[in-house]
Amino acid sequence: MNKILIKNGYLIDPKTQREGNFDLLIEGKAVKAIEKRGGFGKIENCEVLDAADRWIVPGLVDLHVHLREPGFEWKETVLTGSRAAVLGGYTTLCCMPNTSPVNDTAQVTEFIREKARAANLCRVLPIGAVSLGSKGKQMAPLSELRKAGCVAFSDDGEPIYDAGLMRRALEWCRMLDAPISCHEEDKSLTCGGCMNESALSLRLGLRGMPSVGEDVMVARDIELARYTKGRVHICHISTARSIELVRRAKNDGFRVTCEVTPHHLTLTEDRIEQYDTNAKMSPPLREEGDVAALVEGLKDGTIDAIASDHAPHELDSKQKEFSEATFGILGLQTSLSLIMGFVASKKISPMRAIDALSTGPARSFGLEAGSLAPGCPADIAVIDPEKSWSFVKEGVASLSKNSPYLGTKMLGMATEVLVGGRMVMRSGEILNG
Ligand code: DOR
Repeated sequence: MNKILIKNGYLIDPKTQREGNFDLLIEGKAVKAIEKRGGFGKIENCEVLDAADRWIVPGLVDLHVHLREPGFEWKETVLTGSRAAVLGGYTTLCCMPNTSPVNDTAQVTEFIREKARAANLCRVLPIGAVSLGSKGKQMAPLSELRKAGCVAFSDDGEPIYDAGLMRRALEWCRMLDAPISCHEEDKSLTCGGCMNESALSLRLGLRGMPSVGEDVMVARDIELARYTKGRVHICHISTARSIELVRRAKNDGFRVTCEVTPHHLTLTEDRIEQYDTNAKMSPPLREEGDVAALVEGLKDGTIDAIASDHAPHELDSKQKEFSEATFGILGLQTSLSLIMGFVASKKISPMRAIDALSTGPARSFGLEAGSLAPGCPADIAVIDPEKSWSFVKEGVASLSKNSPYLGTKMLGMATEVLVGGRMVMRSGEILNG
């Protein structure tokens, strides 16, 4: 059995609350043991990875990515998205069902899983649609999708507007022990808008999406979670009020979790002053007060997970009038560094950062990931927290290049990634796939 010793690093494991100078031994596909630095002595037939000045953390888990396959292979594929993920320190991706066809059948789920096996890089766990075609009318075959390997359900990109359908889906999902990841948008309030509704939207002459369009749906779904005892996961939360509603729901003991994107934590609507379509996404970038509330939610643990909402789109769909351009930006290669920025500025601890990037997401969806405890799958990222680098077009592994962070100086980078005990990236180089 293969053995790898990762030594001289600074280990952070939120699940066990272990943090400090520890060495970690992998045997086969799992973590075998952890010892104080230098504690293992000489081990026969063992590969050694020197992680001096670096962190050893559970591989990052992303609950919200768009891999675009099947149907939009010019934007991204399971393979190219997996490459971007590994470079970003991820070992597990949950991919949204808004492909073509939509992932509302076991065949599509199996197709995605087959592509993931062929890519052979990180774990790819499909999310099934809640409604057929994500059209919000009839429920998708949730049991069949669950059996085929879907770990959660979502109509992301679209809200589940019909409260009765949402209620029934939550009841099914309770039986299947799976969460529903909710894109919270009341379209009768967002009215085809393309940015946050504010003084700026008025000045720019762009139709706004009011924050209350998100808040009313979050409030509704919290009530449905309470009533059904189902698991509601609020995806890409973006407003101060929504955070407050989730905080209260958690205090009340309801089964509600939430994720935030790095861009909603680091950018405000001001970023689109120049009509930059690379800063257009749904939900839209909000105002300073919202960003401050999101950061507070990240600090106090109201936010369970950082999710990239990696949404690749080709240049043609972005080089348009702002109102006509597609919604969405890349995220897999920049999430870690953007969150490390909060660690560098001491807004959050390294432990909280890794919890939100790995352990928290795994907990939200009930995945077997996000821990370095002996016996756990050896899904591991080694991170250089001091590494400074620039995110440039040439370094983008995705097929699409739509990111507002292009040209930005970043701090912190994954240098090694192991999935199930196998090294898939070493010194920033992908080893296969
Ligand atoms: O910005 C977004 N892009 N938000 C969504 O909800 C969907 C996503 C996409 O699929 O491009």
